[in-house]
Amino acid sequence: MANVIIVGTQWGDEGKGKIVDLLTEHADCVVRFQGGNNAGHTLVVEGKQYIFHLIPSGILYENKSCFIGNGVVIDPEVLLKEMSELAGHGLPVTPARLMISERSHLIMPYHKLLDAGSEAMLAAGRKIGTTGRGIGPCYGDKILRHGIKLGDLLDRELFRERLQENLEEKNFLLTNRYGLQPLTLDAVYDEYMGYADQLAPFVANVSLALDRQRRAGRHILFEGAQGTQLDIDHGTYPFVTSSNTIAGNACTGSGFGPAHIDAVIGILKAYTTRVGEGPFPTELFDATGEELQRKGGEFGATTGRKRRCGWLDGVVAREAVRLNGITDLAITKLDVLSGQPELQLATSYRHGEASLEAMPNNSKSHRDLVPVYEKLAGWSEEIRHARHLDDLPAKARAYVRRIEEFTETPACILSVGPGREETMLLRNPFKR
Ligand code: IMP
Repeated sequence: MANVIIVGTQWGDEGKGKIVDLLTEHADCVVRFQGGNNAGHTLVVEGKQYIFHLIPSGILYENKSCFIGNGVVIDPEVLLKEMSELAGHGLPVTPARLMISERSHLIMPYHKLLDAGSEAMLAAGRKIGTTGRGIGPCYGDKILRHGIKLGDLLDRELFRERLQENLEEKNFLLTNRYGLQPLTLDAVYDEYMGYADQLAPFVANVSLALDRQRRAGRHILFEGAQGTQLDIDHGTYPFVTSSNTIAGNACTGSGFGPAHIDAVIGILKAYTTRVGEGPFPTELFDATGEELQRKGGEFGATTGRKRRCGWLDGVVAREAVRLNGITDLAITKLDVLSGQPELQLATSYRHGEASLEAMPNNSKSHRDLVPVYEKLAGWSEEIRHARHLDDLPAKARAYVRRIEEFTETPACILSVGPGREETMLLRNPFKR
């Protein structure tokens, strides 16, 4: 029996979708524990394309149970659309396959309007570049204790009461601060009651269900969204998402005890990308950056925005190992580096006179970080055919070894292309 957490080590988009899909084969249950439909990944299985924002991709396997934990924020319109798209592919999502926590919070129409309104009001340089899905305002309400939980939706009277209280405040903001039309109680109520009827059979106590699974000796995979540097506490605040993206939240966000976790896999892209605004010390503004963007197909899965690209940041990688307690790395997109004559790995930052080995806390100092690079030899060969370590050119193996050495963490998976087969499983984290 093994319970494994998968997290992103950088700013998200590390290729978690493919690794989660790959490891799902060895798991019985897959759990989302934070974020919402700001996340997104695309999988192509037997020629069919599936896009996931909320439902774990484990739903593609007939014999896996999927869970959405209390730490996730749910836009019911998006969730139902995702379900109906899957049904359109001949994969009906039934309550036997998907359970959603009654304690997860609902994204309401005003959250999306407030997300867009607040971004529009921020001065240039202060904008976060959010996905505009209402994520921040929804988590904000949760912390303020104004939130509406999925479970509340099933009690019509309670839901209407909570909605009315919220609309009094939100309509004031929408009209007076953002110059928008107010939302009407009946319209939002009726819309959400339509969702309630459809979602009710899926709503349950996920913590209890996971505990039963664990006791039955089933393997549980916890699927993180976004990445460590987007964590609300430990990331490059304020240019972060509004949830804890690190491994500790797999437990908080699903109601699962930390003592039952056996491994934490950190997904590390062989270079770095970031979508949206905010600090990115190893960002490249030259032809190499453009080449990584083009060759890596670096466009955001949710918003389609171009991702900013740069060299691998060892400081960020080490920080991820520390913050998440990473036991194994899955290094992705190694193939994108083929053809680079020389590679750079940031091993520390200079900030004025100081040498820093960790990301500073202050958002002002983020801007002035100068990465200190170690040069590594590149390789010219294409490597998408590699299926064993020995199939890689010596210089690619040396790059991987240096990452393992610098982060003091072994790699369990190397990915050399988008296809499932373009992967080297060096060690199965479910078999410890
Ligand atoms: P929000 O999560 O929509 O509030 O956006 C906050 C920041 O997190 C923005 O910079 C987004 O681009 C970034 N972000 C949110 N979700 C993802 C993701 O899944 N991958 C990469 N960046 C993300």
